[in-house]
Amino acid sequence: TSTGTPRHFLNIDDFSYSELRGMLNAAGSLKARLKDGDRPQLLKDKVLAMIFDKQSTRTRVSFDVGMRQLGGETIMLSGQEMQLSREETLADTARVMSRYVDAIMIRILSHADLTELADYSTVPVINGLTRRAHPCQIMADLMTFEEHRGPIKGAKVAWVGDSNNVLHSWVNAAELFECELTIAVPDEYWPEKDLMLDIEKAGKWVKLIEDPREAAENADLIIADTWVSMGDTDAAERRRVLKPYQVNTNLMALANKDALFMHCLPAHRGDEVTDEVIDGPQSVVFDEAENRLHAQKAILCWSLGVDVN
Ligand code: CP
Ligand code: NVA
Repeated sequence: TSTGTPRHFLNIDDFSYSELRGMLNAAGSLKARLKDGDRPQLLKDKVLAMIFDKQSTRTRVSFDVGMRQLGGETIMLSGQEMQLSREETLADTARVMSRYVDAIMIRILSHADLTELADYSTVPVINGLTRRAHPCQIMADLMTFEEHRGPIKGAKVAWVGDSNNVLHSWVNAAELFECELTIAVPDEYWPEKDLMLDIEKAGKWVKLIEDPREAAENADLIIADTWVSMGDTDAAERRRVLKPYQVNTNLMALANKDALFMHCLPAHRGDEVTDEVIDGPQSVVFDEAENRLHAQKAILCWSLGVDVN
């Protein structure tokens, strides 16, 4: 347990530009050191509890491996196996876990549940995805863009498809990092109120339209995500409505010649993206997946108050 307000990592827009820039710098440095075989034991003897109320491949493995590389340990918990599934409150769960572990990472659909856990936890809580936000993903995305193309400031970014948690965190990032984000989503899946407010808050940095072709034009980065997020129930209807939003070679051809393609994964090949694009030379999806590891190590160090450099 710690004293003072714990350093939670819940939403991109809880932070200033310089705080996030500091974490990205730390991530880059940890990545370079790892490639040199250097694994600084910055979180030696620290224990991270991970609660997964939903499926995960990348988040689960990258946090686990990241903690081990930093000398720490992890406990993997599933919501179903915890008393949470028998109506113990998030608040009581937070109070108890705070007595045992140094930090908590949670993936849970309800953002209000995440907030409740954080409010009652005396150790840092990290958002491993809610229906509202996926901030760890966006840190990896920013890192990946900048590794390939340099500063994201002023870059033209196109989001094509559904309006969801990953988009929400991108909207927050666009405002802070000053890149021009154009969002193309169909009327049927127009952003919910909460996201709309953040889009308005982002002002000139974020534009919301319906036409995927217009969004793709002259883009430096095109981003797709699944059409059916965890918690969505109308899969067949979504696949029908979102069909014109597939990222394929025709759409990529409208972007700048050296435009990158990103997708947080898991991908549904043949739906939101074709094999040609995701396996093509512009795709950086596996660098993006790798960078989850490095970005989250930096987030863990920040949360636990450990300087990387
Ligand atoms: N991108 C992402 O969060 O992947 P997982 O659902 O596999 O963790
Ligand atoms: N938008 C997706 C992201 C998965 C990592 C979902 O919420 O299911």
